[in-house]
Parts: sequence; structure tokens; C-alpha cells
Amino acid sequence: MILPIYLYGQSVLRKVTEDITPEYPELKKLIADMFETLTQAEGIGLAAPQIGLPIRLVIVDLDPLAEDSPEFKDFKKVYINAHIVETSEETDSMEEGCLSVPGIHEKVTRPSRIRVQYMDENFNEYDEWVDGFLARVMQHEFDHLEGKVFVDRLSPLRRQMNKNRLMNLLKGKAHCTYKTKRVLK
Ligand code: NI
Repeated sequence: MILPIYLYGQSVLRKVTEDITPEYPELKKLIADMFETLTQAEGIGLAAPQIGLPIRLVIVDLDPLAEDSPEFKDFKKVYINAHIVETSEETDSMEEGCLSVPGIHEKVTRPSRIRVQYMDENFNEYDEWVDGFLARVMQHEFDHLEGKVFVDRLSPLRRQMNKNRLMNLLKGKAHCTYKTKRVLK
């Protein structure tokens, strides 16, 4: 089932999310629905707040990038109760976009490597260092779990440059090819 994606301005995107347990109702279906929603929206990562749920659940699907990056073929992952526990001092700058903030693409500076603790969809625990593009995607998605979106990390100048777009989003004005939940005016 395709779920609507909550856009910038929706309060759920500003919540710090809660951990979940294996007893979370219909978790398997929720994860399947999130993957379906992500594919349909042509994204590579989706955090639960983006579908209206303030819980610590993220999915990543890098398979659409496999043509240029074969290592991502069939790369579909579920991250439950994830936390970044350490970061490198070295940083990278990379352009980001977000299904919840359509129409804005900006470079964001983040640590190059991160140490993450999380559980997979079977609640197996992991503690690992991640680098490269996946580290970038994880940091973007895990920000959503803390009530943050990537535009919060822009310089005051870049934020100013995008002010009108952000104001329009807050008024519910956006062009999306996917189903959304937004402020109605
Ligand atoms: Ni996002």
C-alpha cells in the first residue's frame, strides 16, 4: 500500500522519535508499505516520521543507483532503533534532497564516517562503522528520527536563498509526483 509522504511543515517531522519493539503492530506490513512508497516516489531513503509515525524506523533502498554503483545492487535495508554513536572529524560535502522537502537540493557538510548501532527487521543488533555514500544516506535519514531535516543544516545564506520555497511548502504549495500529506490552505 502506498502511503502519503508528509511534507515540510507537518509537525510529525519535528518530533524526536520513540524506540519500537518486535511487538509493534503489523511491523512487517509497515516496512513493506514503506518500501513500496519509497520506490513509487523514486527515493532512496525513508524515515517513519515521513509517513506520519514518530518511531525509530528507517528504510534505505540503494538499488536504483546500481547502474552507476554496482555495489548497491539489491541493497535494501531496514534500520530499527538506530543511533549514531561516533563520528569522524573528517567531513564531506554532498548535495542532498528529501521527499519531504520537494524542490530543494543543497550541499550539506557531514562527517565522512559514522559508527552506528541499530537493529535489522529481525531485531538482530549491529554496531559498525560506515563510510561513503551509505554514511551520507544514514545521517540524512537518522536526522529525521531526531526531528531534523537537511535544510536545518544549511548556512544562513543558503537558507535565505531557499526562503520562498520553504515558505511555499509551509503553505502546502509543492509539485510532487507522489502522494503527499501537507498543510491545506
Ligand atoms: Ni529526508
